[in-house]
Amino acid sequence: MTTTAAATSANTRRKPASKKKDKVKKPEIIEEMGVLRMTTKHPTIRKLKRKYPTSIHGNKFWSSSYLLMDYLTDNPPKKKHRILDLGCGWGLTSIYCAKKFGCKVTGVDADKEVFPYVDAHAELNGVEIDTLHRKFEKLDVETLSNFDIIIGGDICFWDSLNDTLFKLFKRAKKAGVKKAIIADPQRQPFVDLCDRLDDHFTHEVWDWELPEPTPANGDILVVKFNKS
Ligand SMILES: C[S@@+](CC[C@H](N)C(=O)[O-])C[C@H]1O[C@@H](n2cnc3c(N)ncnc32)[C@H](O)[C@@H]1O
Repeated sequence: MTTTAAATSANTRRKPASKKKDKVKKPEIIEEMGVLRMTTKHPTIRKLKRKYPTSIHGNKFWSSSYLLMDYLTDNPPKKKHRILDLGCGWGLTSIYCAKKFGCKVTGVDADKEVFPYVDAHAELNGVEIDTLHRKFEKLDVETLSNFDIIIGGDICFWDSLNDTLFKLFKRAKKAGVKKAIIADPQRQPFVDLCDRLDDHFTHEVWDWELPEPTPANGDILVVKFNKS
């Protein structure tokens, strides 16, 4: 009796053979918003993760990048615009701007370990992205004067970054940058930064929602440094 009960319960637990066959393998490459992205399953990403451990949250792409891409689709930069992607991480937004609009893009990041991920994705997508290893704090007026638009996805996540970005906007205005477009999942330092801009810059904050391909929502901050 006992033996039969044990055998029955073991049989019940066993998966039918057909279900096993149906198990779908997770893809190694995903295409979203026209940008090819390697997943953590991809051997290149596995290798890069072992060799280049990132240290300031540049360990993956963040969904704010997709908010930024969606905003840029509706408000496209001109091909001649030179774009600086602040805190570029894996550089997917940089790649999007190069691929979709033909812009010349530089990805800047304080963590040099993110650049192999940028390079691998740029190659996969057949575009070239310049990279610059520098902290926001060290982007001076001369460097910023080489760019028309500065963009960034999820780069205001510490209280200290509020002040860092506020000062960066002041230098960008001096440098003749036209505008800054920053996407954020409404983290408190970012919300505080938006409030702080009121008396200093012409700016807009848009509530942005993207149901697909990767659901994302948050704010898009647009700072207009000059009116032309
Ligand atoms: C949350 S990740 C976002 C990455 C990318 N923008 C995205 O949306 O996927 C923040 C990025 O900003 C960079 N970063 C943080 N503080 C920085 C600073 N002070 N100067 C330059 N880069 C910084 C990090 O190294 C990281 O790559």
